Amino acid sequence: MTPIRKVIKENKSNNIPIWIMRQAGRYLPEFREIRKKNPDFIKLCLDSTISTEITLQPIRRYGFDAAIIFSDILMIPYGMGQKVEFKKDFGPQLGALNINDILKINEETFVKKLSPIYELIKNLKNNKDLNNRDIIGFVGAPWTLLVYMINKISPKNGLNNLFFKDEDLIEKILIVLDKFIKLHIKNQIKAGATVIQIFDSWAGLLSKDLERFIYKPTISLVEYVKSLNVPVVCFPRQIINYVDFCNVVNPDMISIDYNINPKYLLNKINIPIQGGLDPKVLLTNKENLKKETIKYLELFKNHPYVFNLGHGILPETNTDMVEELVNIVRSYK
Ligand code: CP3
Repeated sequence: MTPIRKVIKENKSNNIPIWIMRQAGRYLPEFREIRKKNPDFIKLCLDSTISTEITLQPIRRYGFDAAIIFSDILMIPYGMGQKVEFKKDFGPQLGALNINDILKINEETFVKKLSPIYELIKNLKNNKDLNNRDIIGFVGAPWTLLVYMINKISPKNGLNNLFFKDEDLIEKILIVLDKFIKLHIKNQIKAGATVIQIFDSWAGLLSKDLERFIYKPTISLVEYVKSLNVPVVCFPRQIINYVDFCNVVNPDMISIDYNINPKYLLNKINIPIQGGLDPKVLLTNKENLKKETIKYLELFKNHPYVFNLGHGILPETNTDMVEELVNIVRSYK
């Protein structure tokens, strides 16, 4: 059995698996090399030969226990026909949202547009370097995708008051997102994904209406993935109450950010846990890295746990520090 499935199915914590969010990305010189020659990020994601290579880069370098596919959560709005661009030193920029056009997109068109992502997964499945590793497919949660689709840019400075003004639009988007997210999940699993992770990176923006925007739409996806017999991991970053989220949504594993006190959570829930370490720790020194990493390893000694960070690795991270991190986790007994 693959390492992450094992943690989830057997509910055991010996040999803690490790992978890191954004492991295929800008902190790797070999990624930056490819990126330089490929200025269009969406095109890069849709070239299955190159995206396969990028997915494998961190596996070759560090031997992580899981390969997360090189893609992006915004490939779903792209597949639905909204323009998506990634601007240097700015992040994503989405185009005008025309709900009538989106409602006209049929499933076949969507799958065809995103088919290189499924090809990438098939390539991984047939790749010997991957051995018995997990292949993590992923989607953005409906709330986070809704945020990008309406706000058009990262909401890191908060959401504008006008965000919620068009009730009817929001309702229509949530319904159509449920359909296309499920379609994307189904096709990733059909191609060979062994785990699905749902990224709700902006869950922390909400202090009310969680039922409508987070619980209800996420439960729909979690139940869908479970019905396909594949484990599902949720990352509701900075959500106001992780305990409530776990009790209500009941994913197979919860991925935590670095603001939640892991000890507190450990005593309150009994599903497997992933992640937690602040990616900024990798910018300090080896001694501090060891101290902070051991904290998580000790704490989760008797709880099913997958080592990961509390958010994506920062582009300025030194590759030696990642190697050190892997050594610390692997040599921990
Ligand atoms: O290694 C991996 O984790 C796999 C690939 C992956 C990417 N994006 C590649 C990427 C994954 C899992 C994602 C998820 C993603 N994308 C999320 C959820 C996780 C999170 O970080 O909160 C979100 C919110 C996005 C949207 C997105 N994509 C943003 C905000 C940005 C720009 C800023 C940033 O964080 O990098 C991207 C671009 C992006 N996606 C890059 C990569 C490697 C950088 C592209 C570049 O080279 O310029």
